[in-house]
Amino acid sequence: MPRADVALTLTPMKFLITGGTLGMGRGVAHALALADDLRHEVVILGSSRERGASAVQQLQETTGNAKVSFVLCDLASFRSVKAAIEALRAEAPLDGVFVNAGLGYAPKRVATEDGLDPHFQVNYLSHFMLVLNLLESLTRSSSGGRVIFNTARGGELRWDDLQMTKKWGYEAAIWQAFAAKRMFSRRLHALERAAGTKLSTVGFETPKTVWSHQIEIVPWPMRAMATVAKWFGAFISIERCGEIMAPLFIESQAESLAKSGELVGWSAQGFDKKDEEPGASDEAQLIRLWDESLRLIGDDETTRISERLTRSA
Ligand SMILES: NC(=O)c1ccc[n+]([C@@H]2O[C@H](COP(=O)([O-])OP(=O)(O)OC[C@H]3O[C@@H](n4cnc5c(N)ncnc54)[C@H](OP(=O)(O)O)[C@@H]3O)[C@@H](O)[C@H]2O)c1
Repeated sequence: MPRADVALTLTPMKFLITGGTLGMGRGVAHALALADDLRHEVVILGSSRERGASAVQQLQETTGNAKVSFVLCDLASFRSVKAAIEALRAEAPLDGVFVNAGLGYAPKRVATEDGLDPHFQVNYLSHFMLVLNLLESLTRSSSGGRVIFNTARGGELRWDDLQMTKKWGYEAAIWQAFAAKRMFSRRLHALERAAGTKLSTVGFETPKTVWSHQIEIVPWPMRAMATVAKWFGAFISIERCGEIMAPLFIESQAESLAKSGELVGWSAQGFDKKDEEPGASDEAQLIRLWDESLRLIGDDETTRISERLTRSA
């Protein structure tokens, strides 16, 4: 496995990769563990203790980096997120978070223990809670701290049915979460800049579909179509995805800040900025989603953090 093609960073960094047990998160965890002569530390977060232990062991063995660890957290449960926040605060300072873990294909909508749409909570809302509660650790990072969002252009918020109880489809739920993540990234960027911190928030859109664990769980006709598409080069591997994305985490502070608040894609020429869609850049909608997110989470500590941030902005 070639090492990530990245500039050598002198300071060791620590990254949290949500969904680092499988798929794109696993690819990024691998590339970051390998980068810069095994200098960095990688914490992967997932909902299964067994998958976590096995991923840590394999990542350590394949990269030779012993500084890979696991935090158990079910993002479908705010109770579990709160416990993980406590564990992660003890890991401070943190230099970067990959907002990645997510549900993909699902045969039906099964509400979470908090009574919410599972894609909305796992892919977006629990990450909102996690990131807000880790801001202090991130902004203490000597590299300024960075939050990288795994997202894509498209999708919209269904304001009349945010939890999709009236009309549900797994694809629509995934796209709604993509839009919510981009909106969160933009507003967080604006608040952090106004507060004078050096935190950067960057949305990333993968250049091709990634051949992830998702392919193993989709119904067989979809798997068959994906297999054919793979022959025609429609997919990239999780390892390639990790190599492409690793620079976003370890590039210089100036390079990271230049991308902050933006959605970026990637081509052989490097990262390029993508135009945002009107709905997802409308300030009134960004504020509405932020406030609604706090209301749905209903956690005093998270609300206090948000109040402190908006006051200092
Ligand atoms: N594949 C693509 O081409 C593509 C393209 C654009 C964006 N994305 C986005 O990338 C993210 C990862 O997708 P993927 O294709 O890599 O999927 P994947 O292979 O199925 O991996 C999903 C990851 O999310 C974690 N996860 C799922 N539910 C969780 C929960 N309740 N709590 C904590 N962790 C949970 C899983 O870990 P455990 O099961 O061990 O908990 C796993 O590590 C998703 O948000 C997806 O929407 C994917």
